[in-house]
Amino acid sequence: MVFGATGDLMRRKLLPALYEVSAALGGGAPPFRILGCARAPLDDTAFQREATASLVAAGVARAPAARRWARKFLRYASLGAGGPDDYAALRRRIEQVEAVDRLPGHRIFYLALPSEAIPDVVGRLGSAGLARGPGWSRLVIEKPFGTDLASAEALNAELHREFPEGSIYRIDHYLGKETVQNLLVFRFANMLFESVWNRDRISHVEITVAESLGVEDRASYYDGAGALRDMLQSHLTQLLSLAAMEVPSSLEADAVRNEKVKVLESIEPLRPDDVVRGQYGAGRLGTARLAPYRREAGIPRGSTTETYVAVRLRLNSWRWQGVPFFLRTGKRLPEKRTEIVVHFRRPPVWFFPGSAPGEISANTLRITLQPDEGFELAFEIKRPGHAIVLETHRLHFLYAEAFGPLADAYQTLLIDLMRGDATLFVRGDEVEAAWRVYAPVLQRPPPLHRYPAGTWGPRDADRLPVELGHAWSDA
Ligand code: BG6
Repeated sequence: MVFGATGDLMRRKLLPALYEVSAALGGGAPPFRILGCARAPLDDTAFQREATASLVAAGVARAPAARRWARKFLRYASLGAGGPDDYAALRRRIEQVEAVDRLPGHRIFYLALPSEAIPDVVGRLGSAGLARGPGWSRLVIEKPFGTDLASAEALNAELHREFPEGSIYRIDHYLGKETVQNLLVFRFANMLFESVWNRDRISHVEITVAESLGVEDRASYYDGAGALRDMLQSHLTQLLSLAAMEVPSSLEADAVRNEKVKVLESIEPLRPDDVVRGQYGAGRLGTARLAPYRREAGIPRGSTTETYVAVRLRLNSWRWQGVPFFLRTGKRLPEKRTEIVVHFRRPPVWFFPGSAPGEISANTLRITLQPDEGFELAFEIKRPGHAIVLETHRLHFLYAEAFGPLADAYQTLLIDLMRGDATLFVRGDEVEAAWRVYAPVLQRPPPLHRYPAGTWGPRDADRLPVELGHAWSDA
């Protein structure tokens, strides 16, 4: 059951992923149907027609195949005004589809809805007796999960009234990205990296999620959220947890998530000068002239929402004491790029000519999650010739070269959801721990700096690494 079935997420992400997943699983898939639920008074045929158009627009199928698939798998239930009678009708509809299509009665309620709409829907599912079905029932919630610590705690409490934690799947789509999952393999299957993954060998770590897109057509959501709530608290903090966590005792969901929570709990309280907020002004990207954020459609002229945020985090743990983590994300930056750059320490003794010890290049490991998934290890070599001249060279691995295009994150997450593997979903205490990290900034937001669209954010953000003797990789 997808709530918000006529919405943007369903059209752009869920439907294409559901189509691909059912094509990939083929006859091996357990029998399933997708019941779109929304207020609009559609019938099955109209919903199937709209879905066919979305699949064609997304480029996953041609019209005849999309139409066949939609007819077979998609059904629709109108929620009307969303009152008790409507949910009683929904229950009857679900039971009818299960009976007609001989389904085993396992149910997934996927709420592709804004945070504020969720408590009401979950409460109504509970009152209609839908939280417990003939088989298992799972509840899926999209990010952002709440808007701060208090609202996330309240939302967790509401969900737990109807669904046990073990059947709640909080989505952060970054966890479904192949390269994000690979972080665990990369770290824990390779003696080479794990043995140097600590304060003795690493000087600092950068995590960047840069986007060249602006606010697009999401003004009403984005202006209330901003970069901290939209990206930093979720996606970047997830990347930080995976990069910094201790070795879990197994790959079981809770073993992994316990270690991620410990990372968040080890973060020292943020100080005002650890955070820089920015908002894009007018600028250029290539030949395109870009409007300032405050002139984008639907954005109030005096908006103080940040479209860029950078933070410097200190982890109070044996592994990471003294190793700063610099995180930054922004819209209207020069390119789309998601990467983790691990900077190793410089050698303790230096006897090569040419540069002073403080100036030599340190080894770096650049793990790129988008757009060219892979990694790159930079190291020094001697340039051939009589004199000793050092040069930086790179070993690289690209997923695309080895495996071709990667599956979309939602496909991975949907399969895990059907299988009941919660490893790549965010646990209730984890989401609260992430909000706790940023609570001081949300309570007292630091000043907003302006940056020209198409640049790497406000100049003030350079200060975060520079004050500790480092620099952003692109600076
Ligand atoms: C979403 C944010 O969660 O992630 C968007 O709401 C952002 O603002 C998007 O553009 C980025 O995702 P990806 O997978 O394109 O990096």
